[in-house]
Amino acid sequence: MKLESFDRFAAVATAAACATFVLVAMQPAHAADAPMSVEKAARGKYLVSTSGCMDCHTPFKMGPKGPEWDMSRMLAGHPESLEMPPAPKLPDGPWAVVSSGSNTAHAGPWGVSFTANLTPDKETGLGNWTVNDFKATIRTGRHMGRGREILPPMPIPVYSNFSDSDLEAIFAYLRTIPAVKNRVPEPRTPK
Ligand code: HEC
Repeated sequence: MKLESFDRFAAVATAAACATFVLVAMQPAHAADAPMSVEKAARGKYLVSTSGCMDCHTPFKMGPKGPEWDMSRMLAGHPESLEMPPAPKLPDGPWAVVSSGSNTAHAGPWGVSFTANLTPDKETGLGNWTVNDFKATIRTGRHMGRGREILPPMPIPVYSNFSDSDLEAIFAYLRTIPAVKNRVPEPRTPK
């Protein structure tokens, strides 16, 4: 985000915060949730746009100026139609990781991982997750806090430093994006 647009964001966020305050002040307590969650989702959008989620979870496609995000598949993870052949075997030496051009499949010492569908699709995305499932995943590095371990390059050690309210905001935003039906393949174990 450029500095001017950040300023604009800050101005909009401040205006939104003031508006929320007025709304909250005017309404009985039980009606205060709605404007708060709009504000929360706006903060989540900001966090998602500055924390790299798009780089790995939105597939790149080739555009006129080189690789660009395929926004029709925003945050939908590795495209199910993009069948990946076995990863090339690297010679001994310092090269350790190979990535697909979509940046959604990564092969390394952990095997091959495919980025997850973060859209609210109920069957193939996070549609059936609660905010606690999301927080537990990022906090523990395990699927929904109790399943299998989340593999690299998902930066769990970085994102586990998000505060509770940041994670709640990110999840609130992920609820608002278009659902994309896309079944991401299971990871492959190392050979
Ligand atoms: C460097 C690449 C990378 C970045 C950046 C990244 N992810 Fe991931 N993410 C992955 C990969 C790869 C997986 C799948 C790992 C696996 O299958 O074990 C994953 C998995 C996940 C999962 C687990 C899904 C499940 O079903 O258990 C969630 C939730 C998630 N990412 C959210 C995010 C969010 C939110 C951000 C930004 C704040 C983000 N990721 C940024 C690569 C990344």
